[in-house]
This record gives sequence, C-alpha cells and structure tokens, in this order.
Amino acid sequence: MPKIELNTQNTENFITNDELKKTQEQLSIAHDQINKGTGPGNDFLGWLRLPSATPDSLINEINETAQFAMENSDVFICIGIGGSYLGAKAAMEFANHAFYNQLQPDKRKNPEIYFAGHNISSDYIADLLDVIQDKRVCVNVISKSGTTLEPAAAFRVIKEHVEKRHGKSEAAKRIIATTDKQKGALKQLATQQGYKTFVIPDDVGGRFSVLTPVGLLPIAASGININELMDGAKEYEKIASNPDINANPAYLYSATRNILYRQGKAIELLSSFHPSLRYIAEWWKQLFGESEGKNNGGIFPASVDFTTDLHSMGQWIQEGTRIIFETFMTIEKSNREICVPQSSNDEDNLNFIAGKSLDYVNDKAYKGTAAAHLDGSVPNMTITLKDRTPNTLGQLFYFFEIAVAASAYLQQVNPFNQPGVEFYKKNMYKLLGKM
Ligand code: PA5
Repeated sequence: MPKIELNTQNTENFITNDELKKTQEQLSIAHDQINKGTGPGNDFLGWLRLPSATPDSLINEINETAQFAMENSDVFICIGIGGSYLGAKAAMEFANHAFYNQLQPDKRKNPEIYFAGHNISSDYIADLLDVIQDKRVCVNVISKSGTTLEPAAAFRVIKEHVEKRHGKSEAAKRIIATTDKQKGALKQLATQQGYKTFVIPDDVGGRFSVLTPVGLLPIAASGININELMDGAKEYEKIASNPDINANPAYLYSATRNILYRQGKAIELLSSFHPSLRYIAEWWKQLFGESEGKNNGGIFPASVDFTTDLHSMGQWIQEGTRIIFETFMTIEKSNREICVPQSSNDEDNLNFIAGKSLDYVNDKAYKGTAAAHLDGSVPNMTITLKDRTPNTLGQLFYFFEIAVAASAYLQQVNPFNQPGVEFYKKNMYKLLGKM
C-alpha cells in the first residue's frame, strides 16, 4: 500500500500543461536510461534493484550481527561520513524515540547509538570517549572506499579505546567493517585483524547505499525492523517502475521541481513539520546535492525545520529573493498523541485550542504556512507520509532515490559521480604533507 502522497496543487499556477507534457516525454527517456542502463553513470545502478534483489540470507546475517551487538554492548558506535552514515542516522531519527539514547535501558532495550567519523574534531571524539568510558562497546566502521580520512582517523582513536576496554582479541569480535569487497585500507585492516565484514556492492554509490549493509546494520542495531523497511522499499520499487507521472509520484516530483528550476527557482527548500524528519532532510541534501550539482548547475537543496525555523527563516522565505520553491514534508499519523489541557481560568488565553492535539495544531500551522508562502510567490508541493513505520521509511528512501536519478538525467548530468568532492581532499592532503 502506498504510504507517500504527493500534492502539487500549490504549483499549478506556475506550471502549464504543455510544460508537464514536455517534461513527461523527457522523463520517459530518463526512465529508459535508468531501467535499461543507457545513461551516464550506468555502472552505478545497483541501488535500483536492491529492495527486490537483496537475498534473505544477507538480511538474516545483518539481523544476527545486530542481535550480537544488542546482546553484548551498551553502546554501538557507527563510524562513517556522507552516504556512510546519513541514511542510518535519518532512519533512527525517523522511527525511534526522540530521546532514544537518554531512555532508561529497560525502556530502550537496545544499545545507545553514537556516530563518529563525520567530522574532524578533537572535542567531539574526546566527549564521546567520556560518554562511553566504562560501557561495553560494539563498533561498525563504514567506508566504501576504505580510505576516507575522517572515519579512518576516528576509527584509529576508537579502536585503541575498544582494545584497551575489552582486550585486543575481544575487541576484534566487537568491530564490524562495512566496505569494498577487496579494495582500500579498511578492507586490508579488517582482514588482518579478523573483523566481521559486510560488503558494499561495487555498483552502489555511497549516497545510494542506505539499503545495503551500510545503512541496514546500524538501523537494525537500533531496534528498527529492517525486513519491514525492505518490504516498503520493494513496494515503491514497483510503483516507480511506471514511467507515467500520473501513476508515479516520484516522477511527478522530479518533473515539478525541474519545471520550476527552468523558471529560475534554483533553490529547493525541504520544509518539514516534524523533528523526526530532520535527518531525512540531511540525507536528502546529500543525495540531491551530490547528484545534481554539476557543470555549474543543479537545484540547491536546502532544508528548514518548522515550526522552529518559521521564527528564524520565515521572513526570508516569505519576502526574500524569489528564487525558491518549497517541498513540505508532513506525517499523517504520529506515534503518540498529546492534547492541550483545558484551563479553568484561561490565564494564557489558550483555551481556543484546549482539547486539541498538538498534531492538529501542527497541521493548521502547515496549512497556514503553505498558503502564506504561495501568496508570497513560493510555489510548493507536499509529501505526506502516512506514519513513522519502517515500511513508510523504506518507501520514502526509494522514492527520493528514483526521483533524483530521473531528475539528474532531466538535467543531463551523471547522477552517480561526485568529482567535485575530491578538490578539498587534494588540498587537505597537500597541507598535511601526504605524498
Ligand atoms: O556519495 C558518496 O559516494 C560520498 O558522499 C560518500 O558517501 C562519502 O564521501 C564517504 O565515502 P566513503 O564511504 O568511501 O568513506
């Protein structure tokens, strides 16, 4: 059952039927490029069939490894950067308790989860070591290339800690490496030390890897049901096999954003109304930014958290430079409901919402914002998610992956490379004196 709805009504005044028709024709070509592997970057299309082609044996192995970590550790550290951590972080924020790590262990049931290797900060790692000091640790170090400096440096520090805490041979059982099947320093280290390893398929790029062990192992270790997640992705794989924008909301999303982009709307704001969507937006930014930002073009992906940012960015969005369009993300059904209590003397003048749930109020805030931004010439669409279940999340991951592939092909760029990321690395290595 589809768990994602796309409403493009608030873009209709900006888009003609002719434009939609023309873009549908271009999308049919993009659809063939994706499905027949005839477009640029066609050696990186492995993500397309991950939901239907991932064998049960791999899912079982991931679940068993996660179970080992859950039973034997108080803390699970996920080391990686970019596509090697954002999907897992997004999934946990989406599906788990907002204060997961702070919950009492008997309520949380699974290990605390921390991320490292996504920055180069002494303070961050030192503070993390303070938190995990006496706790039993499992580590999942993730790097497709196996050579990225940020996770490698963090891993060296954390490995030393785990070896001191558990002893070298026990530490080797508590470290799991997710990397290339043969290339890279991490693979060599893992083989040397006898770590359990998971392979990132050659034909799946970093930002498309959330449905491989890269995302699935840490997601499973946080207690999220990855079988349901993959089922959801599989359902969307089917929906997305239809090239018709009237039957495939992911393509309608691609078409709409590209028509608006051609009109000079160069920034897309992903505006969510739930804190649980914050890291979905971070994952989305990498997915769209690295896939489209090429040849001095591409839509700039930005995100805001509402209603929080209506009190900081709201003014700019309403009346600033008119180069933006907006994609709202909302959730139809929260996990829990809190209502505003009735007050006998109404001293804070809030009785007009007494008895209403906070979600009811949030929904009015969303509707009021969408109308206001439309009045301010910000065309907007809305992605509504049915709920916060793993199934919906699986659908959402696939929705955005297929949408960005089609969208980048509409812009005639290779969605699957990221040559620009190398430039800072070259300079950094030179400054660090690496030969
Ligand atoms: O999408 C990509 O390939 C990149 O953004 C990578 O995810 C990121 O650079 C991390 O690379 P690696 O997994 O090789 O350490």
